[in-house]
Order: sequence, then C-alpha cells, then structure tokens
Amino acid sequence: MSKALQGVRILDFTHVQSGPTCTQLLAWFGADVIKVERPGAGDITRGQLQDIPNVDSLYFTMLNHNKRSITLDTKNPKGKEILTALMKACDVLVENFAPGVLDRMGFSWEAIQAINPKLIVASIKGFGPGPYEDCKVYENIAQCAGGAASTTGFRDGVPLVTGAQIGDSGTGLHLALGIVTALYHRTHSGVGQRVTVAMQDGVLNLARVKLRDQQRLAHGPLKEYSQFGEGIPFGDATPRAGNDSGGGQPGRILKCKGWESDPNAYIYFITQAPVWDKICDVIGEPDWKTHPDYAKPAARLPRLNDIFARIEQWTMARTKFEAMEILNGHDIPCGPILSMKELAEDRSLRATGTVVEVDHPARGKYLSVGNPIKLSASPSDVARSPLLGEHTEEILREVLGLGDAQVTDIRDSGALDPPRKEAAE
Ligand code: COA
Repeated sequence: MSKALQGVRILDFTHVQSGPTCTQLLAWFGADVIKVERPGAGDITRGQLQDIPNVDSLYFTMLNHNKRSITLDTKNPKGKEILTALMKACDVLVENFAPGVLDRMGFSWEAIQAINPKLIVASIKGFGPGPYEDCKVYENIAQCAGGAASTTGFRDGVPLVTGAQIGDSGTGLHLALGIVTALYHRTHSGVGQRVTVAMQDGVLNLARVKLRDQQRLAHGPLKEYSQFGEGIPFGDATPRAGNDSGGGQPGRILKCKGWESDPNAYIYFITQAPVWDKICDVIGEPDWKTHPDYAKPAARLPRLNDIFARIEQWTMARTKFEAMEILNGHDIPCGPILSMKELAEDRSLRATGTVVEVDHPARGKYLSVGNPIKLSASPSDVARSPLLGEHTEEILREVLGLGDAQVTDIRDSGALDPPRKEAAE
C-alpha cells in the first residue's frame, strides 16, 4: 500500500510545537518532510525539558517523527541560496516564526512566489491582522485570547488553561487541513497559495460552543449550567461551567470508589434523555421515571445538583471501571477519567498504533502518540525523530543534486556549521 502523501515534499521551517505538529502529521501520511534547523542549535525544544542530559528531549522527539533534518544558516548568503533551491524543489513551505521573521530573512510572499509560483506557503501566527498581529504567542496565550480560558474552570475560581494543547497542536491540525486543501486546489489551478492560521482563531473555532452560549444568554439563563439550578444570576458573558456538559445532555464528573486516595477515581456521567429510565433503574430510583420533578428533561434542569448527588452515591460504591461496565451495558454514556499512566499501559491503544514505542539511538525506547487519524488504504508508521543535521549532506545531494565539490564549497561558506560566535545566551 502506498502512503497517502507519498511524493509530496515539505520544506519544514517550523519550531517548538504548533508548526511541528502539523508537519509531523504530513510526514506520517508519507510526505518527505525536510526540517531546516539552525546550525549548532536546532529547534529550541531539542534542549528544553531534557530528562536525559544532552539527549534530544521528549518534547522534541514526540513532535518530529518521520522527518529529515538539515542544518542551514539561512542568514548566511550561501545558506539563502540553498534555501531558495529547496523552495524550488518542494511543494509546501511551512513556518511558524514570529511575525516578520521570513520577510527579514528576505523571503516575503512576493519573493517566494517569484522563486516558485507553485509553492504553498503555510504559516501559523499568534493573531490574525489587527491590534495584536505583531505579538509573539505561546500555547497558553492562545488559550486565553481564544476564549477557552475564560470559559474553563469553576465560576468562583480563576480562568483555567487546559492540558490539551489546543493552541499549539490544535492550530497545527488546522494548518495541516489548510495545506492538503491547498494541495488539492493546486491539482486543478496549478498555482500555490498562502495558508495562514492564527492560534487565536484556531482556539476560538474549538471553543465555538461557548460563543453559541454567549448569544443564548440574550434570551435567558443557560439552564443546563449548574449555576442555573443554584439560583445564581448570569452575567453578560459566558461563564465558567466547571465540569458541566457543554452539550444539550447534562453531565458531570462524579466520584468513584477510591477517590479519597486516587486523584483519578472519577467517571464522567451523562444523563442522556433517551436512557433516563434506565438510569433511574440502575441507581435505584425507579419512581423518578414518572415523578413530575424528574421525568422530563426540562423539569430536571433546576435539580441537576441533587440528581447528580444521588447518582454519585451510586458511582462512589463502585470503581470507575465497574461503573463503566454496568452503565455501558445499559447504553448510558459515561467515561472513566484515565490518567496518563493508564493510557500509557492501555493495550487497545497500543494495538491500534495510537500509543507506540519508538527506539531512539541516544535515548533508547520511549512512548509516543502515533497518528490518531487512520486511513484504510494508507499505512502510517512512526519513525524516530532525526538527530540535528542528520540528513544535511543527503538532502544536498539527493534533493538538490549537488556533487562533492559543491557540497565542499557550501561547507566552506559556513552555511552548514554552527555560527562562530552567538550573541551572549
Ligand atoms: N538560520 C538562521 N537564523 C534562523 C534560522 C536558521 N536556520 N532559523 C531561525 N532563525 C532566526 C530567525 O531568522 C529569527 O531571527 P530574527 O528575529 O533576527 O529575524 C529567529 O531565529 C527566530 O525568530 P522567532 O520566531 O522570533 O523565535 P523566538 O524563539 O523568539 O519566538 C515564538 C518563538 C514561538 C514565540 C515565535 O516564533 C512565534 O510567535 N511564532 C508564531 C506563533 C507560534 O507558532 N507559537 C507557538 C509556538 S509552539
């Protein structure tokens, strides 16, 4: 079976998390991803959060699988020449530098179009055009500016960021879709185009149900929010809703057996209307099926705290897995709170390749998340991340067709080597 993006060549000028997430996905689908890194240093994440001294961090290795690495000083005139040649040889350039970096390097959109009009140029920035367009942005800033933080957490607490990297990885996913869309467009238009995703926009897209609720507020209280049942008036903006379900089926996180000592002994329980009668039977409240205060969803809304307190009496007498098995047997939607330890050990995730063990020459074996997107006719394997500059010569020779003399000439120019003297670090 061939890989879906076999034959597509990506010039990967990304760093940190957002851009590398995108190019890693494309690499998993079979694109030849050439990661351009600064000589001597490389992607800054290689050295961040290192668990083993002087070994590429898990931060780096888990975001850069299936890529090749070339070191190139793109501020050196010879380095610029090589970059230009790579732009001619590639289908897509992906970058997530701070605003203005590519222009300063001499590669504005107009300049790139003159080099290769078929090249798709894909960029992640923190913000789109507007007051913050020049700002540098990291994950949590995007979560805050995109509406996720103001709507996450508890009403009486501070705004919260989530552990899921919706700002970085979420935007990388958006960009990957933009790139394959532009590639498809190019098959009939023949031309490349610019693809841009702002992290603020990506987060807002993922938080769109909260913008939905913002508009519902104009027509009355949000009845599925706990605060409605508690009689607390709503303000003028979508509030934080704790663990209330964001959908039309009320849900909560409930304690399970062992919660006193296990921080993850909890289950998410949804009181889906079509299975309400089964819920009443399971928890031992059969009268609720016909009681006017409980029988219909609208009657239950002001009483959700009491209802979930009663359900919690039932879940607290069982482990999350016991509860899951019983509830699942009745088609009652629920899900255990799984720790990273439990996920790392999960056999079915290993079997599907969603959790994979990878071997790295310097660090040995480690776990990673494989491709979560499964294609039936296009396999997706996970290969270790490249060492810094591991493929520099290979790329110069194979992709650019350079010979020994030319490679030596480029080496002599200093474009491939660590800068002689960096500014004080
Ligand atoms: N050779 C020579 N110079 C190189 C190079 C190479 N191979 N690769 C990068 N550089 C230089 C760039 O030219 C730039 O220099 P300049 O500022 O003199 O023009 C510099 O390295 C990198 O710039 P920058 O992107 O500003 O890096 P930073 O570490 O200061 O900022 C971010 C990091 C993430 C805040 C910033 O890149 C950003 O806001 N990106 C967009 C949003 C984003 O993706 N954020 C999430 C990251 S997970």
